[in-house]
Amino acid sequence: MAKAEAQKEDPAVVAARRQVEQLREREKRARERAQLGGLWSRRDVFGRFAWSIFAGFSGLSLVAAIRSAFPRVLFVPPSTFKAGRPTDFAIGEVSEKFKKDQRVWIIRTEEGIYALFAKCTHLGCTPRWLTAENKFKCPCHGSGFYKTGINFEGPAPRPLERLRITKAEDGQLLIDKSVKYLYEKGDWSKPGAFLKV
Ligand code: FES
Repeated sequence: MAKAEAQKEDPAVVAARRQVEQLREREKRARERAQLGGLWSRRDVFGRFAWSIFAGFSGLSLVAAIRSAFPRVLFVPPSTFKAGRPTDFAIGEVSEKFKKDQRVWIIRTEEGIYALFAKCTHLGCTPRWLTAENKFKCPCHGSGFYKTGINFEGPAPRPLERLRITKAEDGQLLIDKSVKYLYEKGDWSKPGAFLKV
C-alpha cells in the first residue's frame, strides 16, 4: 500500500525534497568544518608542525653559534711557582707565605729546604702550623704532624706529602705541585723531595 503511494508521488516533489536534504547536509558539513577549523584544520596542523621544526632548528643553530663564540677552555692554574731565594727563609722556620695561595709550606733546616703540601692525609682539611707547639694540627679531627710532616696523633693514616722543590735558573726556589713524594713509599730520599742549600 505504502509502495503504491510512493509510486504515486510526484517526481518533481521527490527531486525538490532531495535538493533540500542535500542543501541541509552541505550546510551541516560546512558548520562542522567551521567548528573544527582554525587551529585544527589539516593545513594549519601541517603548517604549525613545519614552523615548529623550523623554529627548533633555528634555536639550536643559534645556541650552537653562541657557544662556539665562547670555546670551553679549562683554565688550570700552573702547577709550578717560584718561591723566592733560599736565603729568604730562616733556618728552622715554617713559612706560611704560600699557604693561602698555593697550599704549600716551605721549611728550611740546617741542611736544606723542603716543601710540604698543606692537605691533611685524613680527609683533606688544611692543618695549621702551631709555632708554640712545634707541630701541624688539623682542625677537623685533630690529627697532628711533626715539622717533618710525619703524623703522630689523630686519625691521619700517613704523613703529609712533600712537593718537588728545585732551583730555577735564576736561583729562585721552584715548587712543582704536580710531583708528590710520599714518605711511606720511600720517596723522601729522592732528589726533588729535599733541596740541599
Ligand atoms: S681531615 Fe684532618 S684529621 Fe680529619
